[in-house]
Amino acid sequence: MYPLVNESCRKDGLLTRLQDNRLSLKKGILQTIIINSQKGGSGKTMLSAHLATQAEREGDGPAYIIDTDPQGTLTKWHSLREAGSPQRVEPPLAAIAQALDKLRARGASYCFVDTAPSREADVLSLLKLADLVIVPVQPSPSDIWSAAATFQLLKAEGIPFVFVMMRTKPNAGITAQSMALLSKYGQVAATLVADRTAYAAAMTDGRTAQELAAKGPAALEMAALWKNIKEITPVHAQQKGLTRHG
Ligand SMILES: Nc1ncnc2c1ncn2[C@@H]1O[C@H](COP(=O)(O)OP(=O)(O)OP(=O)(O)O)[C@@H](O)[C@H]1O
Ligand SMILES: [Mg+2]
Repeated sequence: MYPLVNESCRKDGLLTRLQDNRLSLKKGILQTIIINSQKGGSGKTMLSAHLATQAEREGDGPAYIIDTDPQGTLTKWHSLREAGSPQRVEPPLAAIAQALDKLRARGASYCFVDTAPSREADVLSLLKLADLVIVPVQPSPSDIWSAAATFQLLKAEGIPFVFVMMRTKPNAGITAQSMALLSKYGQVAATLVADRTAYAAAMTDGRTAQELAAKGPAALEMAALWKNIKEITPVHAQQKGLTRHG
């Protein structure tokens, strides 16, 4: 089910041992990815939907989504969706930790948690459940200032996080400036998410841009971003360690 063994392992004759190690490491190890930022409209819901779908498309599931935003945009998107995955669970905010335990017991691989635009201090108990927090940031001064506040709290609490640049425009100097500033605070995903109408258009009927055009630029972008995200989730990093040290 999981594409875990690469060619070099095969050549080394370590196939069986590494495969066993990594399957036992991966099975039942849920990675909780929370998408959060103080800024409204930064792209939290769009990323939750698109990354959860991408995880399923690449066989990295089962992937689940949880919508903790009272606006319910992700829930609305999901209710319009015809495809059976990703699946959605709807625990009350106070019972998310227990819901994650249940998903873990069910063998889920990823849970993407969408959040309301919120000061991180107000959702700290939620953020503490994350294996990784994704902070979408648009290349604008107000987004960067808000991301700086986010960084301070996540860093102080030791919660792993990554910034994702959203709605970037080709050749805009402000994107490079924003990335340079953000990278002083923390890791910035190598893939930039461009400003594309396909992202919004696809979500109006419960789909994602990858599902509208499987080989379109948005699809390629989401595949590249998911690769970046996977590489920095703790389980994946551990697997890489196993690959190196056998
Ligand atoms: N890369 C993009 N290109 C074009 N449109 C985008 C992109 N990312 C998000 N959008 C659109 O921008 C709007 C805001 O995005 P989204 O709802 O994901 O933000 P949000 O952070 O969840 O907002 P809120 O804080 O209100 O929950 C939506 O209409 C969405 O479709
Ligand atoms: Mg939202």
